[in-house]
Amino acid sequence: MSERANFKNTLGIILATAGSAVGLGNVWRFPYIAGENGGASYIIIYIICVLLLGIPCMVSEFIIGRHSASNTARAYNKMGNRWWGIVGLLSVATGFLITCYYVIVSGWCFQYMYATLAGELNGNADYYIQYFNDFSSNPWKPVVCAVAFMAVTHFVIIHGIRGGIERASKVLMPALFVLLLVIVVSSCMLPGASKGIEFLLFPDFSKINANVFLDAMGQSFYSLSIGMGCICTYASYFSRRTNLSRSAIQISVIDCMVAILAGLMIFPAAFSVGVQPDSGPSLIYITLPNVFQQAFSAAPFVGKVVSFAFYALMSLAALTSLISLHEVSTAFFQEELKISRRVSALIVSCGTGFIGIFCSLSLGGVDWLTFNGMTMFDIFDFVTGQIFLPIVGFFACLFIGWYVPKSVVRDEFTNWGTLKDSLFGLFLFCVRFICPTGILAVFVNQLLS
Ligand code: PHE
Repeated sequence: MSERANFKNTLGIILATAGSAVGLGNVWRFPYIAGENGGASYIIIYIICVLLLGIPCMVSEFIIGRHSASNTARAYNKMGNRWWGIVGLLSVATGFLITCYYVIVSGWCFQYMYATLAGELNGNADYYIQYFNDFSSNPWKPVVCAVAFMAVTHFVIIHGIRGGIERASKVLMPALFVLLLVIVVSSCMLPGASKGIEFLLFPDFSKINANVFLDAMGQSFYSLSIGMGCICTYASYFSRRTNLSRSAIQISVIDCMVAILAGLMIFPAAFSVGVQPDSGPSLIYITLPNVFQQAFSAAPFVGKVVSFAFYALMSLAALTSLISLHEVSTAFFQEELKISRRVSALIVSCGTGFIGIFCSLSLGGVDWLTFNGMTMFDIFDFVTGQIFLPIVGFFACLFIGWYVPKSVVRDEFTNWGTLKDSLFGLFLFCVRFICPTGILAVFVNQLLS
């Protein structure tokens, strides 16, 4: 038996993996797309995508990780061959590159927590745009925040799987949930909040078209952290008793719930003050500070508390995702270079931090970091999310669906025959046909648009 570290119990597994899935994407992408594209009808489409694409892909990555009990690159090598190893390597590279820019956006949350306390977040709509542009293009402030964020992540990582990741997730995820509920309740109690709830939930099937469908598929992959090595790496620490399909379902339910609740946090407040919400970083760093300030102008103190709670919430969501991203590379360097976990974590923190600094500087008008009108930051985001992620996801499905012997897949799926295999046929069908086709469609669509 190997002496590989593992999670202590199922709760730890669910919370840590859900921590990876629940991230900035749940707040800044899902609610807006849902509201714009048919509300409840979009949510139904999204749930179908999660069921038919997201969950089978997640279970596939679980199988690869748990079966090989190694870092992601080696996992594909072990279960396949050198060529499949390239997919694993690409997966680790994707995780590494995302870490570089994710830490920058995460660091911004720290600045906004501070800014709320220091009373810097008040002014009109233009002020918030100016504030964000000044801050994000400042050469050193975002870097300091990112370094602080990375330091916290590093601290968790060096304490290992049980003592670090699992322990942190068990505290951070419930805290995230409480903060989310507090803000949802405050937001839904504002005058005129019902219009926002309607915007998010009112079903409008006429808005559903092929593009909306493709978008929902893409979002389900990103939101469940598929194709970045996170799921596979965490699964390498699962025990043989972990029920893989049930865990994937539970994690997806948590992820969807947070995404929907995020909508109930944003839209009631935004509609109550008549501000049009948007998506992406500008939503959480420009639109929402303005919304919170205006919505609670009658009770500025409550406004401050809500705003602070919001950035604390964003920090927690980002932190648990960043931890999972960091772990992908840490496990890789540790096992491939045969070095200690501490040294490996240090390499990752310094390496991604260093590259991250350039991503951050690229937003500040450092000319040579902008290529063809795209900043280095945008390029990292585009290449990882729109190119590497679908490639890895696609091959992971082909790997489990067609290459790995069916008996191995079935054994992992049913925990060596101890669990019912009634869903196995459906799972295999999705992984063989539906997922690769779906991913290919998303990929081509994104490249063409
Ligand atoms: N799933 C995260 C989100 O919704 C993003 C993420 C991607 C996290 C990859 C970790 C790894 O924001």
